[in-house]
Amino acid sequence: MTQKRFENQSAIVTGAGEGIGYAIAYQLCAEGASVLLNDIVADRAEAAAKKIQSETGGTCIGVGGDVAQVEVVRGFVTRAIEEFGKLDICVSNAGLTSWGDFFDYTEEDFERVLNVNMRGSFFLTQAAARHFREQGNGGRIILMSSVTAHSAVKYIAAYAMTKAALEMLARTLSLELGPHGITVNSVAPGSTITPRNLNDDPNYEKHWEQVHPLRKAMQPDDIANAVLFLASPAADKITGQTIIVDAGWTTYSPAPDMDFAQDYELDDTLKGRG
Ligand SMILES: NC(=O)c1ccc[n+]([C@@H]2O[C@H](COP(=O)([O-])OP(=O)(O)OC[C@H]3O[C@@H](n4cnc5c(N)ncnc54)[C@H](O)[C@@H]3O)[C@@H](O)[C@H]2O)c1
Repeated sequence: MTQKRFENQSAIVTGAGEGIGYAIAYQLCAEGASVLLNDIVADRAEAAAKKIQSETGGTCIGVGGDVAQVEVVRGFVTRAIEEFGKLDICVSNAGLTSWGDFFDYTEEDFERVLNVNMRGSFFLTQAAARHFREQGNGGRIILMSSVTAHSAVKYIAAYAMTKAALEMLARTLSLELGPHGITVNSVAPGSTITPRNLNDDPNYEKHWEQVHPLRKAMQPDDIANAVLFLASPAADKITGQTIIVDAGWTTYSPAPDMDFAQDYELDDTLKGRG
């Protein structure tokens, strides 16, 4: 029988009651890892963990808590070690998508998005890295970025800023954590079909697939695949990097409507990004 990729390993995944984090926790558990699954909505965390356990036959515990609070994220590491005896993989997935016109954006909204996206990921990474250093056999850290760290999107300035910061955090920490055998990378998803996005726009998939060169929107499993790769032995020499999973969205730039575009029958939907 082939061994599962993450047998005898344990992982933390934040913001995983639904959406991308849920897919990451599910795949890790299905591939043998014991998973601490966090969500700010405690009932959602518990229900998700129960479902994952029953469908994969693995070990998954649901833990409520807001990643914006430093003591809470430190508690995830303590709890994972109490439950599983050790920690190998830490995925800072929880993030707050915060839209707003720059001219009217409030201090309160700014603080909240920074606290969830940056403070939460920074201090969870610190707590996990301290444990990995003490454990002495390396570790994997994956931060959840976004395409908005690479391409400009209107009305999402503060959020985009936090995601670019996380990618720089991964790069910078590669220096401090590398000597301890710890890799730290980020994954930048493009538009992904999650319950939140479908709630905001029931035609989300149709709208977004038109502007992607691959003509598809991402599924949560597409993002989870990249995270699991970075957590796997196949990626043990990769650190400080970002994998963009966006069906090609960030690869092109808008072009003006000119005659030559018609001559070459450039696809209308790829000429500009609205
Ligand atoms: N969905 C996308 O299209 C997309 C695109 C680019 C980047 N991302 C990033 O991927 C990550 C996951 O995105 P998603 O769309 O699946 O998330 P989401 O907004 O659907 O939230 C997933 C879960 O996280 C929980 N959560 C929210 N705030 C939390 C907090 N402070 N502490 C703990 N849990 C919290 C929610 O209750 C929810 O169950 C985020 O970091 C997001 O910025 C998502």
